[in-house]
Amino acid sequence: MASLTVRQLDEGLKKALRLRAARSGRSVEDEVRTILRAAVADGLGAASPTAAARVTVPVPTSRPDRVLLVIGGGIAAYKSLDLIRRLKERGLAVRCILTRAATHFVTPLSAGALVGERVFTDLFDPEHEFDVGHIRLARETDLVVVAPATADLLAKLAGGHADDLATAVLLATDAKILLAPAMNPRMWTHKATQRNLAQLLADGAALVGPNEGEMAETGERGVGRMAEPLEIADAVMRLLAERVAPVLANRRVLVTSGPTHEPIDPVRYIANRSSGKQGHAIAQAAARAGADVILVSGPVNLPDPPGVRTVHVETAQEMLRAVERALPVDVAIFAAAVADWRVENAGRQKMKKVPGLEAPTLALKENPDILATVARRTAQRPRLVIGFAAETENITANARAKLAQKGCDWIVANDVSPQTGVMGGDRNTISLVTADGVEAWPSQSKEEVAAKLIARIADSLATAA
Ligand code: C5P
Repeated sequence: MASLTVRQLDEGLKKALRLRAARSGRSVEDEVRTILRAAVADGLGAASPTAAARVTVPVPTSRPDRVLLVIGGGIAAYKSLDLIRRLKERGLAVRCILTRAATHFVTPLSAGALVGERVFTDLFDPEHEFDVGHIRLARETDLVVVAPATADLLAKLAGGHADDLATAVLLATDAKILLAPAMNPRMWTHKATQRNLAQLLADGAALVGPNEGEMAETGERGVGRMAEPLEIADAVMRLLAERVAPVLANRRVLVTSGPTHEPIDPVRYIANRSSGKQGHAIAQAAARAGADVILVSGPVNLPDPPGVRTVHVETAQEMLRAVERALPVDVAIFAAAVADWRVENAGRQKMKKVPGLEAPTLALKENPDILATVARRTAQRPRLVIGFAAETENITANARAKLAQKGCDWIVANDVSPQTGVMGGDRNTISLVTADGVEAWPSQSKEEVAAKLIARIADSLATAA
C-alpha cells in the first residue's frame, strides 16, 4: 500500500470524521468522543501514551458518495460532459441520465465514456428498466444534479410531471436536487420560470447559477448561462458535506416561531423583538433530518424554510388555532415569543388623537398559553413537548420552575438580556433543562443550536421507542 504523508492522513481523518458526523447528525466532537470511548472499551486504556499511540481511529469503510446527473436538452449540455470529469475527479460515483432533448446536444456514447458505464435515456427502455429501473436510479443516489436545467425541465419538475425517465426519477427521489439552470435570459426572467423556481426552492431544491454573460445566440447577453462545471462541482461537494442523517424520518414535528402581533386598532399593534431566526432554524433542521414539519410563524422578515409547511398567523389566538389544527404530531417545539396579553377591546377603527382629550388607556387581557395548553392535553399530547424560556435573570432557576408550571418535557432556556444580542442576533447560548438536569451549551450559531437540538430529540425518541 502506498504510504501517506502526515498531511494526507490528517486531511483524510478530518474528512472521515466530518462524513461520520454528517451521517449520524452528531457533531464532529461527539464523533471523536464515541471513537475514543470505543477505543477505551476495547481495552486500550486512555491514560497510557503508548496505548494512545496505538489507537487506530475506525474510519468508516465509506462507499463513494453517489451523484446522479440529469442532463437536460440545452446548448450548455456540452459543459456537463466536463462536469462528469470534475465529479469523478472528486472521487464521486456518477450515474447519468440524458433527456431525449439532451441527446440532440451530446451523445449517450460520449457521456457513457466519461461516466464509465452506460447512461440512461428512456423510461420505457425495457432493457434498462429490467437492469436498473427508474426507482433504483432515484434511490441509489446521495444527490441529483440537473445540469442544464432547462425552463421546460423546471416547469415539469415544479408541476410534478413524470412522463420520461428524467422527470420520473426526479419525482421518485428522496435525495436533494441541485439545479443548474441554463436558458435564454428572457426565459429565465419570465414570470412562469421564476414561479416554478420559487416552488422548487420551497420544496427543498438547491440552486447554482445561472450566471450572467454571453448567450449562444449572437449578440444576446444576460443572466441565463449555466454555472461553470467547477462551480457546480463545488456546490455538489458542499451539499454532500451538509447532508444530515434522516434521524427524524416518519416523524411529524410542529414548531412555533416569531413574535405575535396583538392589534390595538387596525393600524397599530403590540409586538416584541423576536426575529424568528431560532424557530425557523429549528424547523429547517427538522426538515433536513427527514421530518414532516409544520411551522406556525408569527410575522417575521424571513423566507419560509424550504421543505417545511409554513402557516402564517398574526395573533396568539390565531397561533393556538393553527397549532391545534396541526395535531397530532410526535414533537412540538414552542419557540415563538407569544405576547402574554392582548388588547381587550381593540378598536375596529383607527383611534384618533383628539386635541384636548386625554391619551387612551389600553385594557389588556391574558392570551392563551399555547405551550401549556398543548402540554396539558390528555388526547393527542405530543410525545415530546419543548418550550423556550427567554429570561433576563436567574435563567436556570426560572427555567426549572417553568418546566413544572407549563407541564412540558424540556425547556430551552436562554439569556435575552440586551447585552447578549440574542434577540434578533445570529448566535445563541442556551441551557437545556430536562427532568434529568441542566446542560449548558456553548455559544453557537442558531443553526448549530437547531441541529444539536434536533439530534437530541431524535436520540430521545429512539431511546423511548
Ligand atoms: O411564560 P413564558 O412566555 O416565559 O414561556 C415561554 C414559552 O411558552 C415559550 O416556549 C413560548 O413559546 C410559550 N408560550 C406560549 N404561549 C404563550 C406564552 C408563552 O406558547 N401565551
